[in-house]
Amino acid sequence: MKSLEIRKKFLGFFEKRGHKIVPSSSLLPSDPTVLFTTAGMQQFKEYFLGKSSPYGNKVTSCQKCFRTSDIEEVGDTKHLIFLEMLGNFSFGDYFKKETTELAFELLTKNFKIPLSKLWFTYFKGEENIPEDKESLEILKKIGVSKNRIYKFGIKENFWGPTGQEGPCGPTIEIHYDLIGESCQKGKNCIPNCDCGRFIELWNLVFNEYYQNKNGKLSPLKPKGVDTGMGLERLAMICQKKPSVYETDLFEPVIKEISKNSSKPYSLNPIPYRIITDHTRGSVFLASEGILPSNVERGYVLRRILRRAIRFGRLLNLPKNFLISLAQKVIEIYRDIYPELRSRQADILTIIQNEEEKFGKTLKRGLKQFEKISAKGKISGIDAFHLFDTYGFPLELTQELAKERKLEIDIEGFKKALEKHREISRAGVEKKFGGVGREATYEATKLHSATHLLHAALRKILGSHVKQMGSDISPQRLRFDFSHPQKITTEEIKKVEDLVNQKIKKDLKIKKEEMSYERALKSGALAFFKEKYPKIVSVYSIGDPSDPSGQVFSKEICAGPHIKRTSELGRFKIIREDSSGAGVRRIRAILE
Ligand code: ALA
Repeated sequence: MKSLEIRKKFLGFFEKRGHKIVPSSSLLPSDPTVLFTTAGMQQFKEYFLGKSSPYGNKVTSCQKCFRTSDIEEVGDTKHLIFLEMLGNFSFGDYFKKETTELAFELLTKNFKIPLSKLWFTYFKGEENIPEDKESLEILKKIGVSKNRIYKFGIKENFWGPTGQEGPCGPTIEIHYDLIGESCQKGKNCIPNCDCGRFIELWNLVFNEYYQNKNGKLSPLKPKGVDTGMGLERLAMICQKKPSVYETDLFEPVIKEISKNSSKPYSLNPIPYRIITDHTRGSVFLASEGILPSNVERGYVLRRILRRAIRFGRLLNLPKNFLISLAQKVIEIYRDIYPELRSRQADILTIIQNEEEKFGKTLKRGLKQFEKISAKGKISGIDAFHLFDTYGFPLELTQELAKERKLEIDIEGFKKALEKHREISRAGVEKKFGGVGREATYEATKLHSATHLLHAALRKILGSHVKQMGSDISPQRLRFDFSHPQKITTEEIKKVEDLVNQKIKKDLKIKKEEMSYERALKSGALAFFKEKYPKIVSVYSIGDPSDPSGQVFSKEICAGPHIKRTSELGRFKIIREDSSGAGVRRIRAILE
């Protein structure tokens, strides 16, 4: 059964039973406290908390997920940094019994997985949360024999919440027995044994609690269901493959690598798998408008791309090998995720640029690493030098150090990085110091106009627009932001008009001080999150006549800003062009 059919079968099964099929949401969630979408339930979080769902109370989806927490495990038979999660969800509709029965029916009848291969775990009760006896009874009732049911604690059988607060609850986990006999642990070889016999297939989460920011649980009403099953793992089982990488979702990429490598997959599975997984992850991140950088999501993209490139060298792959692999990934997924088709050129350019950039320094960096290694340990300064001069993400240096069993001074690295950033910040301030008062006022105005422009671009072009750079000279502002294509004349006009409309309204520009966390929670934009102080300034440009109290723009920013938008006069965009792959640049003036 091809993966295409598996996806369809899963969604179709639940659709037939009254669930609405909801498309995957973006990998970049709206919850500002999490970096990536890591689970299917994220886009539905508020429906578990009582908000009415526009899709009804029963939904199903196949969700793109990105999990950096599993990066160390990638290379084994089942862990992935990017995965597709199949799930069904109930917001106050059915609960434990129906969920378990549906899962049981789908696996054994529709996917024809023999019951003898399935093992089950449920929550044993821990930290004042009671044992989930109801789940045990349900499992027994549907015909699972007692010696296939085991109970575990919070770590294994209690899930959630995502972010700082939200729904959570006990789970039933369905495990698949890959080997059929126990390891040397004998009777103790049960699900969650680390011998590789079992693979966790489906997680059925019963959201009956709400966890607040202080970690306190309270009962949740109405109760909800959130399930998640990795498509790749289901494909591995249905296609009877020894790892997810032999399924049709990965095989074309593995084949492409072996065409160019002198080392066969069978003898070197780990580098093959890491390269394949990371290329896939990079393609999907790039398709969301993320660009490699040294902060936040951009840093994750850079880190996985550079890790893939490093492993490529171990397999003697030629220069710029990633492009053909990325193309394979796009071919596999472009009919399911149309953004891969429409943004293909951008995705490939982003990957190619990064590969060329790192290709230039990797070899020399590795030589430098050898030199440093001779000292017996890696100091913070040396790790920073590798980062700054040769583009080695800290994690890459850590990995190299681990391979050599060398110690590395992480704290020292962080200190060196912070010092470096302070110096560049001081440089920026110096640029603005020393100019006359009039010029400073003009710069302040352009700074406020930049905030209006940023908000207007996000309203007109979409929330994928992210600030990538900003520069102000006394005459003009310059703003770089992520956006895949040229901005049309019509769009430019719309942006200008919106900014001018806000200027005319004479909106107040308000400054507030608050904790960084609260600022993010309140929806303030923060794209240069290198290292903010604990208390930050938030500037909002609001609309006093708007009864909802909505603000047009809200950003974490050090300022300074003008007091009211009418001081700005008229805003005019004078130029729009490209500033690298997937980045546009706008220059604008105030007349
Ligand atoms: N949200 C649950 C998970 O991610 C299903 O495992």
